[in-house]
Amino acid sequence: MTERWTPQSWRTKPAKHIPADYPDAAALARVEDELRRMPPLVFAGEARRLKGLLAEVAAGKAFLLQGGDCAESFKEFSADNIRDTFRLLLQMAVVMTFAGGRPVVKVARMAGQFAKPRSSATETQGGVTLPSYRGDNINGMGFTLEERTPDPERLIKAYNQSAATLNLLRAFAGGGYADLHNIHRWTLGFVEGSPQAARYRELSDKISDALNFMGALGVTPESHPVLHQVEVFTAHEGLLLGYEEALTRVDSTTGDRYDTSAHLLWIGERTRQLDGAHVEFFRGIKNPIGCKVGPSMTPDELLALIDVLNPANEAGRLTLYGRFGADKVEQALPALMAATRREGKQVVWAIDPMHGNTLTAANGYKTRPFDRILSEVRSFIEVAEAEGVHPGGVHLEMTGQNVTECLGGARALTETDLGDRYHTHCDPRLNADQALELAFLVAERLRREQDSARAAVGAG
Ligand code: TRP
Ligand code: MN
Repeated sequence: MTERWTPQSWRTKPAKHIPADYPDAAALARVEDELRRMPPLVFAGEARRLKGLLAEVAAGKAFLLQGGDCAESFKEFSADNIRDTFRLLLQMAVVMTFAGGRPVVKVARMAGQFAKPRSSATETQGGVTLPSYRGDNINGMGFTLEERTPDPERLIKAYNQSAATLNLLRAFAGGGYADLHNIHRWTLGFVEGSPQAARYRELSDKISDALNFMGALGVTPESHPVLHQVEVFTAHEGLLLGYEEALTRVDSTTGDRYDTSAHLLWIGERTRQLDGAHVEFFRGIKNPIGCKVGPSMTPDELLALIDVLNPANEAGRLTLYGRFGADKVEQALPALMAATRREGKQVVWAIDPMHGNTLTAANGYKTRPFDRILSEVRSFIEVAEAEGVHPGGVHLEMTGQNVTECLGGARALTETDLGDRYHTHCDPRLNADQALELAFLVAERLRREQDSARAAVGAG
């Protein structure tokens, strides 16, 4: 990989999961040209800022919270949806910051998370075979040839929806909605009455008391903007490289190239081949990037990938998201973590406890048992501690909507409940109740980790 990198050099490599069946290649090229002229969605300086925060995570001084839909859609696009997922992120962040005693880096899996790799290129229903649905920025979900035919205009629509989503996120983050004094107001109606709501209220009361106390001393949102606003960053899987290439721009202050479609982009488990197009594209952009790491990854393969993606061993540049499954994580993760630690690789280790825990219920719904999700997170933290690695964060598929997509949780959702409000465009997501429960679990473990670190310092 010593060949010269350009934003286009990925085009000479084998590319998986990028649709090649656009009926009109010239129309696609025209749309990509149009995207090249569109304003960037994020600035290079913001991406560098996130890289700096992730370097803090890599050093064990902060924690990463990344979450949002499996796939955004045109149909579910609304201010309420964006607000509800954002406020769930805030609630989880507050829980984790308070209990973990460390800052939480907030990354929304939003404003660009459209394209999906599919295990099969086609889908057959009632004897009819059509191309699979690949995400709203490529084709439509409806089972007709017209809907399933890739349409380049969808890329423009996705860009515009991403811009509007990001605009609203920025407004929520900076305009007062995220002020810590609003902590009691972020609760979602349907969570009222659940055990998580009670725990959250208790914690909010404590924080309110602390804020009142500090206010009396003159520490107010006016004097301390940190109380009044949050930094929120965006991320999606960088799957559709034509789109990502079109939004890659030269940063005028450094001369480096940044993919300005999001602050952070990650490579999926199915596209992380060392000699493939995705790794080629990602090695050249200067954003903070991520890579999914599943059970088939070997330590040698991981180290080779790290050398290509982060040759300067820059902290904050690379986040690894383990996604093994509750039954495999304890077997697969230790050797991988040991390898990065032994070789002094500056990486953030995080866990995606969603994708290794998907199954099909007897009634046909694709679902995830919540207890397995919790179990993978627990194992991740335990393995990290045993390996002397900071358990840096979680990457979740979740929504602020009252969905019934994952089994279990405090409300003990069963297979028969799944049909009630199963709305996902792709994978099953945690609802707010389940996501908060997970945040409390992580918070408890972080506190324990910190207490034992303090005890160790005290003893030494
Ligand atoms: N700005 C701080 C932070 O992001 C404190 C803060 C303000 C906060 N509003 C928040 C933290 C909402 C979590 C959630 O950490
Ligand atoms: Mn998914």
